[in-house]
Formats: sequence, C-alpha cells, structure tokens
Amino acid sequence: MAQARGHWSGSYGFILAAIGSAVGLGNIWRFSFVAGQNGGAAFVLVYLGCVLAVGIPVMLAEFLIGRHTQRNVVGSFQALRPGSAWALAGWLPAAASFVVLSYYAVVGGWVLHYIVLSLTNSFAGQSAETISGLFTDLTTSGLSQLGWHAVFMLATVVVVVRGVAGGLERGNKIMMPLLFVMLCGLLVYAVQTDGARAGIAFLLSPRWDQLTARSVLEAMGQAFFSLSIAGGIMVTYGSYMRKETDLVRPAFYIAGGDTLVALLSGLMIFPLVFTFQLEPTAGPGLIFQTLPTAFAQLPAGQLLALVFFVLLSFAALSSAISVLEAVVAYGIDEQGWSRSRATWGIGGVIFLCGIPSDLSAGFFGLADRIVTNYMLPTGGLLIAIFTGWVLSQTVRRQEFMAGGMSQRLYSGWLFLIRYVAPIAIATILAQSLHLF
Ligand code: PFF
Repeated sequence: MAQARGHWSGSYGFILAAIGSAVGLGNIWRFSFVAGQNGGAAFVLVYLGCVLAVGIPVMLAEFLIGRHTQRNVVGSFQALRPGSAWALAGWLPAAASFVVLSYYAVVGGWVLHYIVLSLTNSFAGQSAETISGLFTDLTTSGLSQLGWHAVFMLATVVVVVRGVAGGLERGNKIMMPLLFVMLCGLLVYAVQTDGARAGIAFLLSPRWDQLTARSVLEAMGQAFFSLSIAGGIMVTYGSYMRKETDLVRPAFYIAGGDTLVALLSGLMIFPLVFTFQLEPTAGPGLIFQTLPTAFAQLPAGQLLALVFFVLLSFAALSSAISVLEAVVAYGIDEQGWSRSRATWGIGGVIFLCGIPSDLSAGFFGLADRIVTNYMLPTGGLLIAIFTGWVLSQTVRRQEFMAGGMSQRLYSGWLFLIRYVAPIAIATILAQSLHLF
C-alpha cells in the first residue's frame, strides 16, 4: 500500500493508452460484421447513439471514481463504501477483465500465427478451402495454438511489468500511431479495388428493414465491448490521472477515436470482401478465413496481409495490456505485491485459465458470452447506479467539474447516468436473460 502509484506523464499519454485499450479486435472484426448483419448505416446510427448516451457517460463515471480514489476497481468501491455490498460492484469488473483476457489472448495468439503465415507467403495462389483449412488446422491443433497463446501472453506481461509510463504509455505511443497509419494505407488500397462501391454501400447505406429490436441491443453490447467499459480498466486508468485535470474531453476523444477506427476498418474490409464476392457476414472467420482469401488474389497480397495482421496484433496487444493492468492494479494496491510479482503471477494464472479456450471452441464461446452478455452489462449497470445515486453529490460534482466544465454539461451527464444508462443497460440485460 505504501508503494508510490504510477501516473501518466500527461493527458496525451492517458488518452492514447485509453484509445489503445478501446481499439481492439472488437473494432476491426466485430463491428464490421455486426454492422453488416444489422442494417449497415442504420446500425451505425444506433451505435453512435449508444456511444453518446450510455458509453461516454459510463466511461466518465469510471474515470471519475478512479481519479477520486486513486485505486484499482476493487479498492475503489471498498474505499468509497467500506464494508458494504457495493464491494461486489468492484469485484465484478475485475473478474470480467480476468475472463476477457483468458480468451482474448487466445485470439491474440491466432493473430501472431497469421503474421508468420503472411511472412511465409502461405496464402498466395491458394484456394478458399485451403485458406479456410489453415484456420481450422490452427484452432484444432492444441499445441500450436497453445504456443502462440503463450507468446501473446508473454508480450502482454512484458509491457505491463514496465509500469504505467514506461510500459503502458510507451507501448501505446509506438503502437497506436503505427496502427492508424497502416489502417489508412490499407484503406487507400481497398477503396481502389473493384468492389469498393458495393463494399462501402454495404456499410454506409441504411437498410432500415434489417434493423430490429435485437439490433439495438447488439449496438449497445458492441459499445460496451468496444469502449472497454465495465472491466475496471477505465477506473484503473482514471486512477493514474493527476487531480484537477479534465476528464470530459478525453472521454469524447477516446470514444471518437474508437468509433473512427471501427468505421475505417469497415470501409477497408468490405471493399475487399465484395471485390472477391466473399461472404460479408461470415462472422469470426471474416478476418482469418475470408480476408486472407482476398489477400491471396491481390497484387502485393503478401505485403497487405502482413500489414493487416501486424495492425491487428497491435490492436489486440494494446487492449490486452489494459485488461491485464486492471487486474494487476488490484494485486499492487490491495495485496501490496510488487508490480513484477503481480504481473507475472496474475498473468500466469490468466494464461492457465485460458487453456480450456485453446482446447474447446465451446468453452471459448461460453467465456465470451458470459462476459459480453452478462458480466459487462451488470458491471456497467452497477457503476451507473453507484455514480448516479450512491456517490456523494460533492465528490461527483467536484470530480466532474475539475477541468472547468459547465453546470449544464454536468446536469446533462447526471441525467444520462441516473436515468438513460441504467434503463438502457437493464433492458439489454433483461433481453440477454431471455426475459422477453
Ligand atoms: N475494447 C477492446 C476491443 O474492442 O477489442 C477489448 C476489450 C477490452 C473488451 C476490455 C472488453 C474489456 F473489458
């Protein structure tokens, strides 16, 4: 407890690290196909509404709690309501992060394997079946998958062990600008292919008939996952903020950056998918099976594949380090462990807990469903209720106003966090519990 807490070097480092957390596999893979299946631009509009009405307010609530207590998510709730049942609101996000990383690192391992496949030019001239087979081979050969999973987890630990400014911040300062440059490069290439018009139309023209009540719920779930909300990450990242800095503008930048990357990824992926008449709603295989099929047929396809998978590995790694940090911060703050002990110990245990996801696709899917459908929404609901109704008015107001925010903005946020966010999240939860 006596250890000095790490801090961001400034707002820029903080914003970049939080964008690094938010921008991940959720943006590049999940957003594209969910938007494709749920009415294109119609979904995108609803998604933007969810980000503005629920995502940003809950993110702000997390920053505010973390910055106020200067503790990890478990410690924050214990400090604010000692000995009360609200401690559960801290344990739940920490547990969610634990589970997320266990299977997220498995996908991170796939990405590393695909970097090697790109380097060895394994897609060129191959049929769609052969390329699909590469993915099946990997996911059914326990040992190879386990190896790549271990390498990805090791990379995550190596960054986190270096601490807030030296590891998390520096890692993101390198990875995020490169990711953006690579994404723009691929985008410029993709929009010149024959399928560009059809691909862009697929994502950007609204098909209102395909937008169902379920799509609205999908949009909300996607906003949670994509913004890294309710996993304790934003509480932890807020705790590394110095007092008296503005929390509101960063929340808008982070949500804006995350949404921009999701949209650009879609605009890059769909033109390629349409150019080669591939299936735009292929789901998990879209990135690992469909897209390499496109790369196999494109001029300079090997280079494109390599750039794409390196980009994806940065997105996955920069998110994974934030997820590990959320749990490691608990070990450091609450158990008094050294950063090195907490990171290696917790990283090792999360790796072991991910092994069942290597071995069974069913287990992998179960972990994913439990987190996205139940743990994250419940955590977000508790955070919204706590910040809106339980936290003292003085603390809430003071923390929100720290960067010179107006009373009107505060009142607007309070309305969203007290009424809009809890009602919207409770509706999702009810739906995912199949209550209606
Ligand atoms: N936001 C990251 C993505 O979009 O891939 C992943 C993520 C991080 C999801 C943390 C959930 C979470 F709690």
